Amino acid sequence: MNFRRNSYWNNFYSKFSLLDESNFARFSVKYFKKNSSLLDVACGNGRDTFFFIKKGIKCKGIDISKIAIKNNSKKLKNIFEVKDACSDKFKIRKKYDYIYCRFFLHTIDQESEKSFLRNIKKVMMKKSKLFLEFRTTKDPMMKKGKKISYNEVISDHYRRFIDVENFIKNSKEYGFKIIFKASSYNFAKFKNERPHICRMILRKTN
Ligand SMILES: C[S@@+](CC[C@H](N)C(=O)[O-])C[C@H]1O[C@@H](n2cnc3c(N)ncnc32)[C@H](O)[C@@H]1O
Repeated sequence: MNFRRNSYWNNFYSKFSLLDESNFARFSVKYFKKNSSLLDVACGNGRDTFFFIKKGIKCKGIDISKIAIKNNSKKLKNIFEVKDACSDKFKIRKKYDYIYCRFFLHTIDQESEKSFLRNIKKVMMKKSKLFLEFRTTKDPMMKKGKKISYNEVISDHYRRFIDVENFIKNSKEYGFKIIFKASSYNFAKFKNERPHICRMILRKTN
């Protein structure tokens, strides 16, 4: 099954209108130096990208959804670009101080995760930091929808709830070290939902 299909996200972004920055953006921005550079991977409607730009950070936002990128580019030109972060053909010339990636990891399958980690290393310098926020296997939403493996479910769309220990192992294998890790039911409260969320900051080791 090709979980990289963007038709779900194109449809989603033709309706989605939430523009306030996420809690994770407010958490992450404390680490960012002024005038530094940031790549927002899977930026969606750019709500966090626009927030970082306002804070004086030089941003680029990429997403697989053409609709999302088209809408974002109407608001601000030359910042957003359609890109598949998991593609073998992924190429960005510039390197960034920060790679920011919210609510993306749990939308891609295991193979795509490997491609993503391999790709993202290429846009990182030794001192660059990768900021991740994702749903874990403790998330109550994992019980909803059609189960296709122990941590993969299809409800409104495909989700692979991240097994944190497994991800730690994989990220080490792919040349990353974790410099911050925290999990909570309070990180991304939305209406009456309390998803179980993990936040990580990683650096590359080679
Ligand atoms: C849950 S949304 C998160 C959007 C945004 N980061 C936020 O927190 O509001 C997941 C995003 O991942 C994007 N996406 C899915 N697969 C992708 C891929 N292979 N490469 C780039 N973006 C992708 C979708 O288009 C969607 O915008």
